[in-house]
Amino acid sequence: MRGTEGFSGADVMGEEVTLASLLERVKALAQGVESARLQTASEAEAFRVRYLGQRRGLVTHLFKQIPALPPGERRTAGIALNGLRQKAKERLEAARKVAQQQRTAASGEAPIDLTLPGRRQRELGSVHPLTQALRTITSIFEGIGFSIAEGPEIEDDWHNFTALNFGEDHPARDMQDTLFLEASESGEGGIMLRTHTSPVQIRSMLAGQVPFRLIAPGRVYRNESITYKSYCLFHQVEGLVVDEGITMADLKHILYTFARAFFGSGVRLRFRPSYFPFTEPSAELDVWWDLPSGGRWMEILGSGMVHPNVLEAVSIDSERYTGYAFGMGIERPAMLLYGIDDIRILYENDVRFLSQF
Ligand code: DAH
Repeated sequence: MRGTEGFSGADVMGEEVTLASLLERVKALAQGVESARLQTASEAEAFRVRYLGQRRGLVTHLFKQIPALPPGERRTAGIALNGLRQKAKERLEAARKVAQQQRTAASGEAPIDLTLPGRRQRELGSVHPLTQALRTITSIFEGIGFSIAEGPEIEDDWHNFTALNFGEDHPARDMQDTLFLEASESGEGGIMLRTHTSPVQIRSMLAGQVPFRLIAPGRVYRNESITYKSYCLFHQVEGLVVDEGITMADLKHILYTFARAFFGSGVRLRFRPSYFPFTEPSAELDVWWDLPSGGRWMEILGSGMVHPNVLEAVSIDSERYTGYAFGMGIERPAMLLYGIDDIRILYENDVRFLSQF
């Protein structure tokens, strides 16, 4: 083993290095740095390469000699070299500024008026948590081949209810307390704020050709009593797939794929029978939500096989084609995901709340 006594004192080039010789070099270089002519950008660049260049810079080279000194002297050498490097950097910086000013002057630009008030940095906004959730949901479905459809927020009774197999006087209409804009002359139906995105199923099927594979995100409205968990407006994403040979297995597969992508692959899911007029059979999807108190099932969407009456309402042969549909609210999953405990805060535009996202 080689101890400090046996130290060779030679640098990589075989040149003998002592603290005295190194400090001598530092002094000489400091004079060069001090007196270098630095009036143009190219002079500044030549200076940088000569003294500070990564491979052949003179200062850089001296740094590489430090390990050749006995350990007790390295600190002194390091301090001297750092001072030299600092001086070289300062000269370089100053020279670059001068060169920049010359360039500005030469290009005829107005010199900067330092007496003008500063420009205030504009506050950066952030994407609303509902929009974030909506974008995540749409990108998951786009990734598995769904297209995006839209429909109006002001709907008529036929698209919102009748074509979706809600009987005229069927109590199912009461499932969605509606905000009517005006009643029709005959007293039935009329114009309303859509209560769900399901009418986009009808509009899309009327406008296109089988097969369908789409989602329809948007706002919906209900005459709700306003509480921490319900509001008069909220958002839904509708889904619709119609083709030959579509089964409930396809529905379940897509919904599970979606839920795992949205909530994480470990999410616990439950598919539970339900009722909707426009699907038969119908099911709801629940996710298990872990809470300090133990956790509980949360319903996140309704779904089912498109009812033959719905297909017939838009002149699709229900003997030949089958389909599935689903509809989910955005607010509830977004609240779960972001830990928001009151739905109303999503619509208040309070910057203190929004800036957390
Ligand atoms: N439109 C239903 C609602 O707002 C949700 C829904 C349930 C949509 C089942 C669907 C479906 O497409 O198949 O309560």
